[in-house]
Amino acid sequence: MSYRLHSLKEIPLELLPRIAEIQLHDAGLLSKLGYPFVLRYFENAIKDEKAFGFYAQDDETKEIMGFSLASPEPSSLTSKLTEDKVWFIKNILKVFFTKPFVFFQMLISSVTIQSQMDEPNTIECVYFTVDPKYRGQKLGRTLQKALMDEGRKRGYKKIFASVETQNIASLKATQANGFTIIKTFREGMYHRHRLESEL
Ligand SMILES: CC(C)(COP(=O)(O)OP(=O)(O)OC[C@H]1O[C@@H](n2cnc3c(N)ncnc32)[C@H](O)[C@@H]1OP(=O)(O)O)[C@@H](O)C(=O)NCCC(=O)NCCS
Repeated sequence: MSYRLHSLKEIPLELLPRIAEIQLHDAGLLSKLGYPFVLRYFENAIKDEKAFGFYAQDDETKEIMGFSLASPEPSSLTSKLTEDKVWFIKNILKVFFTKPFVFFQMLISSVTIQSQMDEPNTIECVYFTVDPKYRGQKLGRTLQKALMDEGRKRGYKKIFASVETQNIASLKATQANGFTIIKTFREGMYHRHRLESEL
């Protein structure tokens, strides 16, 4: 498997749907909200001044294999979803009527995320996701490590991540990158570990 990492900020716009498609394989809240939310989230993320990330592209086929995203202000990425009020209300009403549990989970998670980022000079590993067909080959670990290296270059001192307690692959990759568990908490239907690493 030979691939290269590129800055997520420089991704050609026509490839963003592929990022959204890969993210739908994640079991987290954003994916549960559905494709329009996922695509809009990454459209906003690549324009966000402080967020940064990477995508892995196969050298031969040029297929995108996975990506990672970090930010010092993850809650601002989430709140950008509500900026276009008409779009947001139309899409969130669909979620409310078709997936009410997801709607209430969103309310709980938005409160939790606000309380998590109160330390200066820190970043959050917001997402790192690998297409299922490329998993188990250390790509996830490499994509997360790229966030850590870039975060260090930008002068951040610490990185945080929240990982579901049963997400063994993510926990293994994150701990192999030097993160340690600092607490375990419940966030609605999610049971998560909070992890941190010095940069
Ligand atoms: C988490 C994720 C990015 C890992 O990607 P990956 O490229 O497979 O990760 P790596 O190969 O770098 O490392 C995964 C580790 O978990 C192990 N692993 C993978 N699947 C596993 C499973 N089902 N059970 C136990 N261990 C597993 C691998 O063997 C590897 O461990 P090792 O380094 O000791 O060999 C990928 O599983 C994914 O995209 N999951 C969905 C999205 C997600 O959960 N993202 C993280 C959100 S916090």
